[in-house]
Amino acid sequence: MQQTESALGIHTPAASNNVLRVEGGRPLYGTISVRGAKNFVPKAMVAALLGHTPSQLRNVPLIRDVDVVKEMLEAHGVDVIFDEDEGVINLDPSNIDAASATEIDALSGSSRIPILFCGPLLHRLGEAFIPELGGCVIGDRPIDFHLETLRRFGADVVKEADGIRLRAPEGGLVGTRIDLPYPSVGATEQTLLTAVQAQGITTLTGAAIEPEIMDLINVLQKMGAIISVDTDRTIRIEGVDRLDGYSHTALPDRIEAASWGAAALATRGDVFVRGAHQPDMSTFLNTFRKVGGAFDVEEDGIRFYHPGGPLRSIVLETNVHPGFMTDWQQPLVVALTQAEGLSIVHETVYENRFGFVSALRQMGANIQVYTECVGSAPCRFGARNFSHSAVISGPTPLHGADITVPDLRGGFSHLIAALAADGVSHVSGIDVISRGYEHFMAKLLKLHARVEYV
Ligand code: EPU
Repeated sequence: MQQTESALGIHTPAASNNVLRVEGGRPLYGTISVRGAKNFVPKAMVAALLGHTPSQLRNVPLIRDVDVVKEMLEAHGVDVIFDEDEGVINLDPSNIDAASATEIDALSGSSRIPILFCGPLLHRLGEAFIPELGGCVIGDRPIDFHLETLRRFGADVVKEADGIRLRAPEGGLVGTRIDLPYPSVGATEQTLLTAVQAQGITTLTGAAIEPEIMDLINVLQKMGAIISVDTDRTIRIEGVDRLDGYSHTALPDRIEAASWGAAALATRGDVFVRGAHQPDMSTFLNTFRKVGGAFDVEEDGIRFYHPGGPLRSIVLETNVHPGFMTDWQQPLVVALTQAEGLSIVHETVYENRFGFVSALRQMGANIQVYTECVGSAPCRFGARNFSHSAVISGPTPLHGADITVPDLRGGFSHLIAALAADGVSHVSGIDVISRGYEHFMAKLLKLHARVEYV
């Protein structure tokens, strides 16, 4: 098989197609590193559009969402230099210009980030265009909060056959009051990226306060913005006339770190995740311990391991920060198939995030999915016929199977299941995982997994 040299300095088999053969039933062990967060880095790259001088972002991972935003920025005239091995990206927006609708459409297919270009482009160019958005199929994923937010700043938003065209009013966008009906991460970022240069004050209530949003606020403050965050999910932004570039190191990817932790637990392994950052992961770590996993927090990362003995079932509800992240749910469910008794997982962020369990059932897991809010307080999906609660009965031995990756996090959970299962699995559609997991194949090999592209 053809070999390539990866940025990790180890050899990775080149992908000849999109199917991974996994010989499972072996613990993962060893050390891997995580870099900057997928759900922060592309947004900080978009923020560079607002600067009148160049920006530098460090700890940038090599993932497809970063490539998409890099190409989108280049299409808008931004000069982007990405040192992939060092993970350093330099962004110079001096020659910012409008891109054609066809170009934007061709580039943005697999990502949801393009919608965040709207505010900065309305400030810099007076107009913006967003095509049909991509991203994982884990629910309807509407953009109504985003469009309403932009309208409130005074933008003219017109839906056309090929996408949505936006225009800033004569005299520019104006600060406003926005009350989000749900603490949406994207709509909070939309508000921040637009309000920082709108005239006057913007007050946002019901804001999301995820660590990735706090780091975006750090970036905007470095650029010259004035933003204060209150204890009750209210964010107040005083618009300023001019923002400059920033120099920043991205916070680490807490979803990737937790995914490898869940993989260590499900395979009865021992994985040190260099770069994992305890303060952003404390809710995950509490749950990991309750299930029976063990971890040691070190200066430069976290060691996740199975300490031996049985795993314990739990009742879990996903929620916005500081709750248990929806993105941690799918990888952890695989470990729950090995816990003794009945575990209950109530998904309250996305209405359709249990599609991945059918493959786990095929591999021997006992998981039932319900439309009711099982195990905890009713959520906004109750009585709306969405299969958003799961009951997992364990432990059930898993056996290899031929399965297909449904979405990014569901795909990683399939990979974990294949690694934990006895026998051989073929995991199709594996490329989806490179949207959010840097060098995942090299990392698997480093953790002694028996995997190869076929
Ligand atoms: N929502 C609306 N209308 C909107 C926007 C959101 O109804 O206009 C709803 C969504 O349908 C969902 C809920 O609000 O039910 C929360 O969505 P949110 O806007 O918070 O999600 P997002 O910004 O689209 C980001 C991450 C997701 C992560 C969520 C929640 C990025 C690129 N994506 O999505 O990450 O699950 O926040 O933390 O930052 C992933 O990494 O695999 C992933 C899906």
